[in-house]
Amino acid sequence: MLDTFGRNIDYLRISVTDRCNLRCRYCMPEEGVEDIGHGNILGFEEIERIVRAAVSLGFRKFRLTGGEPLVRRNIVSLVERIAAVRGADAPVMTSNGVLLSRMAADLKAAGLCRVNISLDSLRAERYRRITRGGVLADALAGIRAAEAAGLLPIRLNVVAIRGFNDDEVLDFARLTLEHPWDVRFIELMPVGEGAAGFGLAYIAGHEIEAALDGFVPVSGKPGGAEVARYCRYPGAPGRVGFISPLSSHFCGDCNKLRLTADGRLKTCLHSNREMDLRPALRAQEDAPLLALLREAVLSKEARHRINEGEAPVRRGMNRIGG
Ligand code: 5AD
Ligand code: SF4
Repeated sequence: MLDTFGRNIDYLRISVTDRCNLRCRYCMPEEGVEDIGHGNILGFEEIERIVRAAVSLGFRKFRLTGGEPLVRRNIVSLVERIAAVRGADAPVMTSNGVLLSRMAADLKAAGLCRVNISLDSLRAERYRRITRGGVLADALAGIRAAEAAGLLPIRLNVVAIRGFNDDEVLDFARLTLEHPWDVRFIELMPVGEGAAGFGLAYIAGHEIEAALDGFVPVSGKPGGAEVARYCRYPGAPGRVGFISPLSSHFCGDCNKLRLTADGRLKTCLHSNREMDLRPALRAQEDAPLLALLREAVLSKEARHRINEGEAPVRRGMNRIGG
């Protein structure tokens, strides 16, 4: 469905929980999060209903996020439900990978297309520090399991943080010489309280690109609204990508809405505006739900202004969906 700026909004990111088995410093408070409570978290039936309504408005792409989506009980059955919706593409997921070694095969069998895996360091001690206790070997095993299960292509998302992992840029980029993976550097965004402590310790994508000798730009996949720019070392099987929401925002190509685990629709990651879908979900007929989805698309803002002094959005990343 077209918004008022001519963008085709066909992508819904669905946060299925705000809980996580890690506590990344820029994302989650150390003590974790209070339970949203069973009564407030959307059930799978409700999520499926929203997906069907969205499909009827022209949405095609659905991504499950969290927190960590794999800690939501029975997540495999939600994948199955969405995969079965006619008109929807096979669903995709963003995960920290920790539970993938156990679940990748089942997710694939349920109809998951692929998974983006977050990985901010290749050094065990550092990984443990940024995630407050995560075990690097678990995430790496998850990546291998996803690859073995055919959740392809493998995409690694690296949040680049000055003074923390900037010295690992080449190590990450070199992974693409050995593996057919997309390794994508993401600029650290000021979202929620977690990121506040980091100030704007973000590293612009072009700074990293400048440090990658010999990598040459390649065009992204034709067709889809691709937020990453890619480059490749000649002959390498994988690509290095840059997702640069701060240094060169891609809002003009933004094709998404976000659904929070507690049933709020967000038209922009960086906006505090939320539309509560739960009253509409209590109605028997779909009309109120469709009206809210339409209204969300038609009120989607042109772009964010976080690098023009706009205050960071209050809701933390784990409660929006990374
Ligand atoms: N800026 C950029 N990326 C973030 N993520 C979480 N918080 C931020 C932030 N402030 C990313 C995670 C992961 C996904 C869940 O969202 O690293 O890739
Ligand atoms: Fe969990 Fe991802 Fe947040 Fe880290 S960034 S705490 S893995 S939701």
